[in-house]
Amino acid sequence: MEHLPQQYRHLFPTLQMHTMLASCSQSALAEPVSRAIQDYHDSLLYMGTNWKEAIEKTEFARNEFAKLIGAEPDEVAIVPSVSDALVSVASSLTAFGKKHVVYTDMDFPAVPHVWQAHSDYTVSVIPSIIGVMPLEQYETHISDETVLTCVPHVHYRDGYVQDIKAIAEISQRKGSLLFVDAYQSAGHIPIDVKEWGVDMLAAGTRKYLLGIPGVAFLYVRKELADALKPKASAWFGRENGFDGAYAKGARRFQTGTPAFISVYAAAAALSLLNHIGVSHIRDHVKTICADAVQYAAEKGLQLAAAQGGGQPGMVAIRDERASETAALLKKKKVICAPRDNVIRLAPHFYNTKEEMRHAIDEIAAKTIHK
Ligand SMILES: Cc1ncc(COP(=O)(O)O)c(C=O)c1O
Repeated sequence: MEHLPQQYRHLFPTLQMHTMLASCSQSALAEPVSRAIQDYHDSLLYMGTNWKEAIEKTEFARNEFAKLIGAEPDEVAIVPSVSDALVSVASSLTAFGKKHVVYTDMDFPAVPHVWQAHSDYTVSVIPSIIGVMPLEQYETHISDETVLTCVPHVHYRDGYVQDIKAIAEISQRKGSLLFVDAYQSAGHIPIDVKEWGVDMLAAGTRKYLLGIPGVAFLYVRKELADALKPKASAWFGRENGFDGAYAKGARRFQTGTPAFISVYAAAAALSLLNHIGVSHIRDHVKTICADAVQYAAEKGLQLAAAQGGGQPGMVAIRDERASETAALLKKKKVICAPRDNVIRLAPHFYNTKEEMRHAIDEIAAKTIHK
C-alpha cells in the first residue's frame, strides 16, 4: 500500500515542508481542495454572483458524501457542524413519546453538551471499561424507554474503533434509534450505513475528509427522516424554500444557507477520497500504524490505546505534557494533535511509515532528554 503516498503526495504542497500527522484534527490541504476554495472566491470576484453554481456544488457534495457512506443523496443533510447535526436530531424526537437518551463516555464533549441542555430528557452515560466498550454495556444501558443511543464510531482520544453493526443490532432490538458520530472515522474507515443498519450518522469535513471547517453532513435513514419533524429546521429544510412544507428525506434537517466556500472544499475533497477508495486508505493507514505501534514500543514509549475493538487508525502516545511536546514538535515541522495526556499521531493515505517513525523518534528524544 506504499503506492498511495507515492501516487498522491504531490497533491499536498505542505508535505514538502512538514510531517503532517494530525488528520484527527485537521488533515493536509490538497491542491484540488485549495483550487476549489479559490474557485469560490474567484466566482464572486469575477462573476459577481454564483448562487446557481453554489447550489449545484452543494448537491454534488451531498452526492459524494452519500457515496462515501453507502446512502442515497436524499438521506443526507448539509449542516454547519456535527454539533448542529445533533441539535437538529434532538429537536426531532418528541413524536416518539420516550424521554430516555444514552451516550457513552467515549463521545466527544459536544454530545454531552447538547443533552445537558435538554433537561426534559433523562440521560444516561454508558461507561467504558478500562478503555474498551464491551457490547454488553449497550445490552445493559439501552432499555425499551430509550429513544436515542448516541455512539462515536471512533474514540477521538485514542482511536478505539467500535463495531457499529453490532451496536445497531442491539439498539434496534431494544427499540432505540442509533446516532453515530463518525467524525473520527469518515475518510479513513469504510462506512456502510445500510449494511450496518444505522439510523443517523454525522461527520464534519476538516479531519480525515480533507476539507475545512464550516460544513458537516447528517445522514438520516429515509423512512425515518420522512416521519420526523425537526424544530431546528428552516428554509433550506423546506420543499420549496419559500413554502412551509418540510422537504422530503434528510434535507428537512437543514436550516439556512450553507457555508458555500466550505462546501466547495468538501466537494473536491470527497471526490478525491471516493476516487482513491476508503478501503485502500484503511489498508494503508492500518499498515503504517501497526509498524508505528511496534516502533514506539521499541523506543520505550507508552501507548494510550486499550486492547480490543477494531485496529485504531491512529497511534496515541501517553505524555503528561502532550501540548508542550506537540509545540516542540511543531518547531521541528512535525504536526501532531495533542489531547489531554496523549499525543495523537493520525496519518492519512499521503503519509509514509518513515514519517511516523520520524515523529516517534522526535517524541522519544524529547521524553528521554527531559
Ligand atoms: C468525534 C468528534 N465529534 C464531534 C466533534 C465536534 O465537531 P463540530 O465542531 O463539527 O461540532 C469533534 C471535534 O473534534 C470530534 O472529534
